[in-house]
Amino acid sequence: MFKHKHLLGIEQLDKNDIIQILDQAQQFKEIINRPVKKVPTLRDFTIANLFFENSTRTKLSFELAQKRLSADVINFSSSNSSVKKGETLLDTVNNILAMKVDMVVIRHSSPGVPIFLSKHINAHIINAGDGTHEHPTQALLDAFSIREKHKEFKGLNVAIIGDIMHSRVALSNIFCLKKLGANIKLCGPPTLIPKYVEELGVTVSHSLEETLAWCNVANVLRIQMERADDAYFPSTSEYAAFYGLNMERLNKLSETITILHPGPINRGVEITTDVADSKHSVILDQVENGVAVRMAVTYLLFSQRMQQRN
Ligand code: CP
Repeated sequence: MFKHKHLLGIEQLDKNDIIQILDQAQQFKEIINRPVKKVPTLRDFTIANLFFENSTRTKLSFELAQKRLSADVINFSSSNSSVKKGETLLDTVNNILAMKVDMVVIRHSSPGVPIFLSKHINAHIINAGDGTHEHPTQALLDAFSIREKHKEFKGLNVAIIGDIMHSRVALSNIFCLKKLGANIKLCGPPTLIPKYVEELGVTVSHSLEETLAWCNVANVLRIQMERADDAYFPSTSEYAAFYGLNMERLNKLSETITILHPGPINRGVEITTDVADSKHSVILDQVENGVAVRMAVTYLLFSQRMQQRN
């Protein structure tokens, strides 16, 4: 039995919770690769996907995961809603819940919105990314994709490269991979690495060459242009010259490394096209695994209620 009602962040999970989600996702991955991909498990449950910020992968992946579990699904985008007429977040959510919704999946630009909602509403909540805070299902699907390649986390060297300062993916990955026993090094220009981040139990390097020689896995992050301004580095071409992952850098390594990227990719900035599309990259595996991981999280959060129902 899964003990949590919500998935607000990886910070609230322990190692056993994470392993339980990854193992459950493994079962769902097998199911969604069968000719009949759908299970009746969440028939009679209704889930609302509330996206107050743009998304391609996360939104579609949650919707597909919910449909594979046979839940009823409604989708909300703030850009064409009454939010534009001044409705508050809580009013919007309460109006949606009045339609008898059991679970809310929320993406919002403000850190802490899922935690705020968990104190004010009765439905299950999944954080689909809250500002620069956490993106827990991304970290879980990253961990799942790493486990497929490397089996063990203990002693594995994972580099997180790029815009750590503005990245919710970085924080959730740090929490998740630390709990699983991996070693983590953050790499990027000093302006994009938060002060005192070593207190989270990670090391920091400003040398991409040194970082690549150290790691087994490199998780390359996008420069978050929408959260930053270009004062963090002189130009995107200079960023690419110092911190862009390219084939020349990979070819100098004595061992093959696994490359992840949460997407969307800025090709030619943090990663070149030949690397993103190479055999070293598991970027599309991450997307495939995202559906199984989101099925697992959704299913486990409902597990207590399913037991009461039976
Ligand atoms: N990785 C990720 O969160 O992508 P989207 O913004 O497209 O959902």
